[in-house]
Amino acid sequence: MTFVVTEQCIQCKFTDCVDVCPVDCFHEGPNFLVIDPEVCIDCALCVPECPVDAIYEESDLPEDMIEYIEINAELSKTWPEIFEAKEPLPDAEKWADAPNKRGALVYPEAD
Ligand code: SF4
Ligand code: F3S
Repeated sequence: MTFVVTEQCIQCKFTDCVDVCPVDCFHEGPNFLVIDPEVCIDCALCVPECPVDAIYEESDLPEDMIEYIEINAELSKTWPEIFEAKEPLPDAEKWADAPNKRGALVYPEAD
């Protein structure tokens, strides 16, 4: 089991999740964070920290977010780790409630 970052993180990257993770399993891309499923210890501490409710336990994922299991697993192999919270992306508040952000994900490589 693992926890999974889903679509609501895209174009926001609030990064509050990063500061509470006891095992540093977040990795950062240009406009999205992912969790390394090999490192996550299922503590759930990150879930209430995310202001846009982007993080779910794998088994609780909404049907239309299932693809993010694979997205987190794959991108966490190549994107760099992030160890501390930072400023959100400039338009994070604007994007926070936007629907259908999947198309905005910069994928697959970080720059
Ligand atoms: Fe880190 Fe715990 Fe969240 Fe997994 S569930 S990403 S270990 S804070
Ligand atoms: Fe993304 Fe939420 Fe963390 S927006 S960076 S999952 S706090």
